[in-house]
Amino acid sequence: MALANEHYLKLQAGYLFPEIARRVQAFTDANPDARVIRLGIGDVTRPLAPAVLEAFHRGVDDLGRADTFHGYGPEQGYPFLRDAVVERAYQPLGVDLKPSEVFVSDGSKCDCANILDIFALGNRVAICDPVYPVYNDTNVMAGRTGEADERGYYAGITYLPCVEENGFIPALPDHPVDLVYLCYPNNPTGAVASLDELARWVAYAREHGAVLLYDAAYEAFVTEPDVPRSIYQVPGAERCAIEFRSFSKTAGFTGVRCGLTVVPEALTARTAGGREVSLNALWSRRQSTKFNGVSYPVQRAAAAVYSDEGWPQVQENIAYYMENARIIREGLTGAGITCYGGVNAPYIWLKTPGGLTSWQFFDRLLQECHVVGTPGSGFGASGEGYFRLSAFGDRENVETAVDRIRSAWGR
Ligand code: MLT
Repeated sequence: MALANEHYLKLQAGYLFPEIARRVQAFTDANPDARVIRLGIGDVTRPLAPAVLEAFHRGVDDLGRADTFHGYGPEQGYPFLRDAVVERAYQPLGVDLKPSEVFVSDGSKCDCANILDIFALGNRVAICDPVYPVYNDTNVMAGRTGEADERGYYAGITYLPCVEENGFIPALPDHPVDLVYLCYPNNPTGAVASLDELARWVAYAREHGAVLLYDAAYEAFVTEPDVPRSIYQVPGAERCAIEFRSFSKTAGFTGVRCGLTVVPEALTARTAGGREVSLNALWSRRQSTKFNGVSYPVQRAAAAVYSDEGWPQVQENIAYYMENARIIREGLTGAGITCYGGVNAPYIWLKTPGGLTSWQFFDRLLQECHVVGTPGSGFGASGEGYFRLSAFGDRENVETAVDRIRSAWGR
């Protein structure tokens, strides 16, 4: 008899977004005429930028001719995309990477999960609370934790509360940890970390030999010039950090699938016997064994994001979403609802009015306003009493949603 991975049974409920989809489906089945506006999962609505679409088409056409056909590509990504990332995404930040440090993938969610393959089970892990659930759940699945307590905290994981009082930036752990997940601009709170705050984490990691797993999926939404877009803007981070980036929200690739992970060549970890090993080499090995690369047309499309034509078009889409964020933030703040985020991130993190729990507010918002958001408690215990609205959506829908919430909840 085959034995199942019992660590999966420790996971508390279904993954957050399918659970939301289930509740919304039940509501729409019962209320087929309701015009439901979805600002829950952060899924883009704008079409691909014209230059990106054209490159995508050209990539497909290449596959239709013998002289430009491509079969298996390099598992780590085509040089044309790795070079473009180095030159167009990192050099402008003053960050010097080698193309061999950039690994193209089918998305940062997968990479955030798969990265655990190259770390020993015995690593002590720190995770922010609230947090993108993938970091937590994949550690549970891997068997790095015990059972969850009544708050949903799994034994063996160090949780770092990110709350109003600390500006949603976690304090350093009071005991040593080996792997720390950080995400800035943050999902779900929309908070950003300053260069000084990131430098504090880099110093911690260097001192303790820890590795920072830095999720920068939302860096493209930074609007303020002094807000860092990459952990590598902190000197020394190349010795202690892995960075994840995504084309999903940046360029509308949630359905296309492309992301990247930077594993610097200077980054090492130790074996139990004390030998230093290159994490770049381990990740490269992992990818060539378990992954066959992202399709050629998708990589062509991704490279066009950085082209002279594509870049301003992509920025236009980002500005569109950030205007949505402003409309939500200012609209709700004007109605007396406390809101965070939405300035350098496409998420607005609001305090549920009337002392409702996150799920109570979810249900009321769905029933009374026909608006879908994400309950803060779904991201962790410290998210209780909060609610996330996504700025990804059509302008008219966003305006209507804000009007409905203001009518129902405005003071
Ligand atoms: C979210 O809404 O938090 C994201 O869309 C989820 C994801 O990127 O996987």
